[in-house]
Amino acid sequence: MSSPIRLGIIGAGAIGNLHLEVFKAIEGVNVAAITDSFLPLAEQRAGEHGIALVHPNPETLLADESIDAVVIAVPNKFHASLAIEALRSGKHVLLEKPMSIDSASAREIVAAKEQSGKILMMAHQMRWTGLARALKQEIDSGKLGRIYNAKTGWMRRKGIPGWGSWFTRMDESGGGPLIDIGVHMLDLTLYMMGNPKPISVYGSTYAEFGPNRQGIGDWGTPNWDGYYDVEDLATALIKFDNGATLSLDVSWAAHTAAISEEPFLHLMGTEAGASLIGSSGRMVSHANNIIVESSITPLDGEDSRLLLNKHFINCIQEGLEPITTAMSGYTNNRILDAIYESSRTGSEVKLVWE
Ligand SMILES: NC(=O)c1ccc[n+]([C@@H]2O[C@H](COP(=O)([O-])OP(=O)(O)OC[C@H]3O[C@@H](n4cnc5c(N)ncnc54)[C@H](O)[C@@H]3O)[C@@H](O)[C@H]2O)c1
Repeated sequence: MSSPIRLGIIGAGAIGNLHLEVFKAIEGVNVAAITDSFLPLAEQRAGEHGIALVHPNPETLLADESIDAVVIAVPNKFHASLAIEALRSGKHVLLEKPMSIDSASAREIVAAKEQSGKILMMAHQMRWTGLARALKQEIDSGKLGRIYNAKTGWMRRKGIPGWGSWFTRMDESGGGPLIDIGVHMLDLTLYMMGNPKPISVYGSTYAEFGPNRQGIGDWGTPNWDGYYDVEDLATALIKFDNGATLSLDVSWAAHTAAISEEPFLHLMGTEAGASLIGSSGRMVSHANNIIVESSITPLDGEDSRLLLNKHFINCIQEGLEPITTAMSGYTNNRILDAIYESSRTGSEVKLVWE
């Protein structure tokens, strides 16, 4: 039996704490160290969860040769510098979404990952729900045929997280709902579509609630001395090199009815379609001009976050490439950048791939 993987947690906030709880339940993992720029929080988590080492900062944790892998769960602005330093220090990395605040810095993470030979996995738990796994099986079996159009989104009505904190500051977050929850839907949809190459993007963003301190939700801690300079709604059309199209709609705050609040994904294939809305899933096809609809039965299994974190550990142990690759994180960042650019310029943005 191999020795346990020694894991360090960078960022002891809401999501860092969630990772910590999940990893503690996984065999073969020793959550050995933690750090946070607000040290008392790291100390508190260490006390609560019996973590032996509290590092004063990420640099000393990354220099600690006894640590094999790290989780990076800090504000988006710090993702790139910490992920790059972690990879250069020989650590495997589980990186919270989005990969980075822009695609230029995300590209640098990809380069560091390639040079390091270490694992870099993006944390997109939505790929791991029983429903998403069941749908992926249907797609892989050919049931949908060629997927030529998709519609996805997540329209929160009153969900601005941490008004005035890093969440709502462009320089720290890279954007609003688009980069926060839109990136999850984008990631899930591209995965289901078989990762076609995006070639052009057209989009608009709006900030109608946040600047007026309206539409505030429960996630994060507001900082009323802070500011709000990100969007609170975004809409976009993305075209792919195989001719497929994807429309994406996300908001933190909007005047929409309660029934529209669940995250959704509709896939239109040549043989059948599929819809995921919240926790329900339907397959739809036409037979002799009659619409046939059936429910998608979620695959049995553990919680999506547990499966995600187990996958990270399994990839390290077996030397496998994770399903949420560094390239997928970079591609998401390219699309997000292009939506912001299109909104600024009012024009379609063509994506050129190196
Ligand atoms: N996968 C998901 O469903 C999901 C959900 C929410 C947030 N997230 C992502 O997780 C990350 C953290 O979000 P959160 O909600 O936990 O935020 P948070 O504000 O609750 O926690 C962030 C923590 O990082 C610490 N920190 C800030 N800068 C640091 C630095 N340079 N070094 C070390 N620690 C630092 C802060 O003190 C804070 O404790 C973000 O990237 C966010 O997008 C993912």
